[in-house]
Amino acid sequence: MRGAARLVLVGAEAALDDATSAACEAVLDARERERLAMISHPEVRAEFLRARALVRAALSTVRRERPTGWRFEQNAHGRPRAFDSAGAPGPAFNLSHTRGLLAVLVHDDPEAVLGVDVEALGRRGGGPEVAERFFSVDEVRALRGLAPAAQRDRFFDYWTLKEAYIKARGVGVSLGLGRFSFVIDDPAAVTVRFDASLDDDPGRWRFARFDPWPGHRVALALGHPEATWQTERWPDPFGP
Ligand SMILES: CC(C)(COP(=O)(O)OP(=O)(O)OC[C@H]1O[C@@H](n2cnc3c(N)ncnc32)[C@H](O)[C@@H]1OP(=O)(O)O)[C@@H](O)C(=O)NCCC(=O)NCCS
Repeated sequence: MRGAARLVLVGAEAALDDATSAACEAVLDARERERLAMISHPEVRAEFLRARALVRAALSTVRRERPTGWRFEQNAHGRPRAFDSAGAPGPAFNLSHTRGLLAVLVHDDPEAVLGVDVEALGRRGGGPEVAERFFSVDEVRALRGLAPAAQRDRFFDYWTLKEAYIKARGVGVSLGLGRFSFVIDDPAAVTVRFDASLDDDPGRWRFARFDPWPGHRVALALGHPEATWQTERWPDPFGP
């Protein structure tokens, strides 16, 4: 994984104006348009359009290809992979979207291992019963040891980091969320412990999590110990 990955963030609080919406729709392929046609809710429609257009635009910044040229195939767990118009594997990428924020992480190397997750911190959830259901025994214990005011914040750290890792692995929740534990002793350092059954090496990973602005959290999982990334904030893809 040579060279920095690119993390592109789009704040999406505002509605999508008609011109931008049409410009985003213009880069979709037939399958994406079919999916769009089935979405009637305006907000869901805008999120779908922004996400598809953003992925295409971001891929085209790291490889010479028109945004309309990308083709996508999904693995058995739903993870999409990009191919250019000549059929060659495209840059590695991973997308995450939540209310008010979209993020795409891209690296030119098709074999780069990467995952991103974003969450809106204002949403409900974050309680102990959710933690017990999804987190490892060690994470639940660490969470309980914190002052009540810090627990919700740490909950979203674990949640986004765990999602970023399973997304980097590409196999979804089938991996077993309790089989790995994040350790956040120092707020700046994130390490991971894997259950032996997971057959993974903490030394090959680099993790990070941060708030790009108040109210949202981003977590990254990069499958190389010296991986780096640069963060860019974009306006709406294909906007005015
Ligand atoms: C589907 C899943 C990969 C991500 O779901 P999510 O966090 O709700 O959604 P995000 O917005 O972060 O990511 C969605 C995007 O990830 C990509 N994606 C889909 N399946 C993927 C997979 N197996 N691996 C990596 N990326 C995947 C797609 O680009 C998808 O975009 P789309 O929904 O517009 O098609 C999976 O992690 C999941 O099912 N999560 C359920 C939530 C959960 O139980 N979390 C427990 C956390 S501790």
